[in-house]
This record gives sequence, C-alpha cells and structure tokens, in this order.
Amino acid sequence: MRKHLLLPLIMLLGEDWAEAQQKTANYDESKIVPYTLPSLLTTESGGVVKSAVDWTQTRRPEVLALFEQHVFGKTPSQWGKVNFEVTQTLPKALNGKATRKHIRITLAEVPQWPGMEVMLYIPNGLNQPAPCFVGPSFGGNHAVSTETDVPLSTRWMRPSKDKHIVDNRATEASRGNESSRWPLELILDQGFALATYYYGDIEPDHAEGWKDGLRAALRPDGAQTIWQDGDWGAIGAWAWGLSRIADYLQTDTAINAQQLAVIGHSRLGKTSLWAGAQDSRFGVVISNNSGEGGAALMRRNIGETTAIITKAFPHWFTPTYSRYANNEAACPIDKHMLIALAAPRPIYIASAVEDTWADPKGEFLSGLNAQPVYDLFGLKGYNVTEQPPIDAPIGDFIAYHLRTGKHDVTRYDWEQYLKFAQRHFKK
Ligand code: GCU
Repeated sequence: MRKHLLLPLIMLLGEDWAEAQQKTANYDESKIVPYTLPSLLTTESGGVVKSAVDWTQTRRPEVLALFEQHVFGKTPSQWGKVNFEVTQTLPKALNGKATRKHIRITLAEVPQWPGMEVMLYIPNGLNQPAPCFVGPSFGGNHAVSTETDVPLSTRWMRPSKDKHIVDNRATEASRGNESSRWPLELILDQGFALATYYYGDIEPDHAEGWKDGLRAALRPDGAQTIWQDGDWGAIGAWAWGLSRIADYLQTDTAINAQQLAVIGHSRLGKTSLWAGAQDSRFGVVISNNSGEGGAALMRRNIGETTAIITKAFPHWFTPTYSRYANNEAACPIDKHMLIALAAPRPIYIASAVEDTWADPKGEFLSGLNAQPVYDLFGLKGYNVTEQPPIDAPIGDFIAYHLRTGKHDVTRYDWEQYLKFAQRHFKK
C-alpha cells in the first residue's frame, strides 16, 4: 500500500534526480576510460562485410536485432487496422500561408488506446506534393503552434510551472510554449510541410506511464506482468507513433511521401533515430541534441552515462539496457551502429556547445564511426575527422554541427536541417 502512495513521487524523481546528476557528472575527457567500439563490419559468425549487399542482407538485420535486444526492445509486429480520421481542415491557416489539418489516428482493434492527434501544416500554393518533416513534440500541438484555435491537448503532461501545466494538464496559457522550437513560417516558406504529435498521446512520460498508454493496450495481458528483456520501451512506442504518421502521409495527396524527414530533440531525438533505423520511409533522419541513449557513444563515460539514464528513465528502454550500467564494454552495440542503420539515407547529427550533458563530442564521433557503412555505398560523410568549430556545419550524407548555446532546438538548427533536406531530396 505504502509503495502505491509513493508512486507519484517516484515518477517525478527520475527527472529531478537526472538533473541533480548533471552537477556531479564527469566532464573531463582525460577521465574517459579507453574503449574499443564494436565492429560494424564483422558479422556475428565472424564474416567480413565487404559490400553494400553484405551490409543490407546480413549485417544490417543483425545490428537492428542487437538494438532491439539490448537497447530499445522489439516493436510489436501487429496492431491491426489503423484508422485515419481528418477531424479538421483549415485552408487558410497562418494568414493563408498554409493549410492546417488535424488527423486522429486510432487502432480499430485496440479501442482502449485513445489514439493520437496529428497536426499537419502544408504550405499553400506549392502546386506539387510537399516534402514533409515528421517529429514529436514535448508539449502538444497547441504548444508547437501559436494559432489560438489549435485544440488544446487533454492528455497527461509533466508538471511545469513555466509551461502552465496545472494538475498534469495543459491550460490556455500553455499555448505556443514550444513554438520557438518549431519555426513554422520558415519551414513552410521553404516549401516543406510539418506533421507533429504530442508524444504523451502514445504514453505518458514517467516510469508507470505505460499502464495508461499504447504499450499496455497492445499487451495481450494488459498491464498485468512486468517487462522482459527485449520488450519495447517508451522510446520504441513513441517511434511507432512516427511510423503511423508516415502511414497517414502516404494517403494524403498533398504530401510527397517519398520525401519524409524524421526529426526529434533530446529524448525525442533518441526517438527519431530509432524511428529512422526501423522505418526506411524516412528518407532523411535528424537527431537534435539526442545525447546518451541517442547519438552519443555510450562507451565515453562523460556527461550522462548508461547508469544514470537507465536509473532515471528506465521506461525509455528495454530492461536489458540497464545491465550495461558501468559495464558498457559488455554491450554488443554502440551508437555509431545506430547512425549506420540509417545508411544509405542521409543523416544529420546536431550538438550544442553548452549541452555537455549530451556529450557533443560523443555525438560527433558516432557519425564519424558510422562512415565505414556509408563507404560501402560510395557515400561521403563528414569529410573531416576532427569535430568542427562552433557554428560551422559539415558533411554530405552524414552531417554535423556544433551550435552556439544550450540544449534546445533553434532557428539556426532548423536552417541547417532545411538546407540538408532540400539538398538531398533534390538528388
Ligand atoms: C534529461 C535526460 C536526457 C534527455 C533530456 C531531454 O536531461 O537525462 O537523456 O535527452 O532529459 O529529453 O530533454
């Protein structure tokens, strides 16, 4: 009984505890224990991957399975029929700049899951189907947009005074609180559409959140038993949501579904990487400040570590992952392999110089060490071996920048992503 009463506290401790760890973590490069990265190009039976065909047919499925078993868990293969209901279409949104659609995605055979509310902005006057960015938000559609007629999310939200979350629910004052991270007019002016959803539509982001989310709804036993090694975590579920948006976009003639770019920031950057790894319909993959559990190499014990992330946010991963706390060398993957899973598609990794918690150098190095796989396809990556100076983006099929400033998504970040997507979708 007492345990039950403590639950709400435990839910919040994760986030606060992780924040406290930021003050005492190691930030000294010289204290990193020397490490060797697992080989990308050696198969489990010891064979050497020599060609793009070897990679695609043999090694890639192995690497994907390793991420399922050890990091994110396996996404279920069945969820039945997916329903799309366009609940609203506003042809003159943002002063006529865009058409705004709201789409409710539900599962016909899983009525206990209330579904996800997708907001889609499509540039007006394009005369051709629009390429589209697809990304989850932390605050809901009403937080991404400043338009006051966007329906307010009614789902559970993390407590936040700044964001005007009261009793775990958004309020009118929460509108637009994430809009600086989604420069809508810039995106639309460059001829891109944007599809987004609130990640809490899939599952509330706390250790017990799965009980009220899709993961419990999809279990044959509901919320009865505990998670086993290899079962999917919340990141897997949030990534699943991105793929369902891709399903919808394939049915919308205003969208060029051959040109989808998946994007996410921080925990949702870990999510966009995992979505991009599993779903090749995302032709461009973007990780913004994804850090530990995302682009940052786990073997570099600097900033956030495997021990910290799996203690603070156990629900993000499959249970197996926590076994590598202070034992990274035993893990058969590192994050260069997550980047390589995007190949031959273009991938962009971004860091921020003050975001030392996310280990900017470790984020850079994962892209550098994914290059052998891009080489198999004859594709250039960074073209340099040292982390570039601040605000000097590099790279072709693997791109990187280290932005001035803090852990965030800024207009500068988006300017680079838009150029990157523009360049690759033209090819
Ligand atoms: C915490 C967590 C990070 C995560 C970040 C975020 O800082 O430790 O791993 O990326 O939250 O999602 O904002």
